[in-house]
This record gives sequence, structure tokens and C-alpha cells, in this order.
Amino acid sequence: MKLSRPQRVTVRKAILPDAAAIHGLIFEYSRSYNLLARSLPEICENIRDFTVAEDGKGIMGCGALHFYGIHLGEVRSIAVWPRYRRRGIGGMIIDGLLEEADQHRLPCVCLFTRIPAFFKELGFAEVERGRLPDKIYKDCHECRRRDECDEVAMVRGRLPSLARLELGDKKPARPSLSRI
Ligand SMILES: CC(C)(COP(=O)(O)OP(=O)(O)OC[C@H]1O[C@@H](n2cnc3c(N)ncnc32)[C@H](O)[C@@H]1OP(=O)(O)O)[C@@H](O)C(=O)NCCC(=O)NCCS
Repeated sequence: MKLSRPQRVTVRKAILPDAAAIHGLIFEYSRSYNLLARSLPEICENIRDFTVAEDGKGIMGCGALHFYGIHLGEVRSIAVWPRYRRRGIGGMIIDGLLEEADQHRLPCVCLFTRIPAFFKELGFAEVERGRLPDKIYKDCHECRRRDECDEVAMVRGRLPSLARLELGDKKPARPSLSRI
């Protein structure tokens, strides 16, 4: 059931003073494996990736757009505090990040998720994860759940066609790239 949208929600790019609040929000969900953990220094370093939703009182939710190159971006670290969920805030943050992706003329935006239904509504479609080697090289080999990953890869836009990742043994720790 859709709850009423809080009044005066602002979606804006994050600035450094938001870093601690973003860290707290991501930490909340990383404990239950819903999000990849991010350290505070890592968030500060990448603060320009982040977009936040706020009311007059504080940060309600956050999300980030990471650039792999001119071919691909990734929506990551999407989170809304439990008391604000199902009020359209998550959708507003994604819309803001996709608008930013369009401004940068990114042909493809990817993400890995356990809630594909949420992202399908927002225009993403499922793909084979081996089609996203950038993401696998960046995150999967360090992930505690790499051997039991239950996340779905999704993209919006045209998939990069430069390379494909062979995941023969299903372990992304030692991937090999082949041209296609
Ligand atoms: C995912 C998340 C950001 C969604 O934020 P939100 O503000 O609640 O989302 P919205 O209100 O914009 O939802 C819009 C629609 O998406 C769908 N949706 C929202 N959350 C969903 C979920 N967890 N699973 C499946 N569908 C979901 C619903 O259809 C919803 O519409 P409805 O409320 O009318 O049924 C939030 O649930 C969250 O922080 N989850 C924990 C962290 C997480 O899992 N992040 C995603 C990692 S990839």
C-alpha cells in the first residue's frame, strides 16, 4: 500500500556534511546484507556520486551513481530509512540518478539487486551478470557473499558490447575476459 508522501521532500546532490548520515543509513542495511558496506572515508571520497532526499529535518534516503567509463554507470547504495519507505522516496532518488545519467549521456546504467521488482517498475531489465564485468571486477571479488550471491543483474539502456566475462566456476574471484 502506498503511504502518503511526506511534504517538502527535496532530492539534491549530496555534499560532504551529508557523509555521516549517508554512512549511518548504508550501515543500517549492510548489516542485513541488503547493501554493500561503505566506510565513511569511502563515502567522503565518492560523495559527488551521491544524491539524497531530505525533508526539513534530515536525510530520508540516499543513492549513488558510479561511473565505470563512458560506456557504463551503476546505481548503487540505494536506501530509504524504514520510517519513510513506501512513500515514493526511493523512486524519486532513482529518477534523480537516471536524470544525472542522461545528462552525462551514459548509454547504460546497471545495478545488482535482490529486489528486481522495484527496479523493473523503474525501467530496468534483467541481464546475465557476466555481461557486466566492470561491476564484477570492482565489487564481487571482495564481497563476503561472492560464493552464495543471490543478486540479480539489471540494466537500463544498451549493454556495453566490448567484453564479456566468463564465469565458468561461478566464482568471480578469478574472472577472465573474452572479446565478443
Ligand atoms: C528499496 C528501497 C530503497 C525502496 O524505497 P521506497 O522509498 O520504499 O520505494 P518507493 O516508495 O519509491 O517504492 C515504489 C514501488 O516500488 C516497489 N517496492 C518498494 N520497495 C520494494 C521492495 N523492498 N521490494 C519490492 N518492491 C518494492 C513497490 O511497488 C512500491 O510501490 P507501492 O509502495 O505502491 O507498492 C527501500 O525499500 C530500502 O531502503 N530497502 C533497503 C535497502 C535496499 O534493499 N536497497 C536496494 C539495494 S539494490
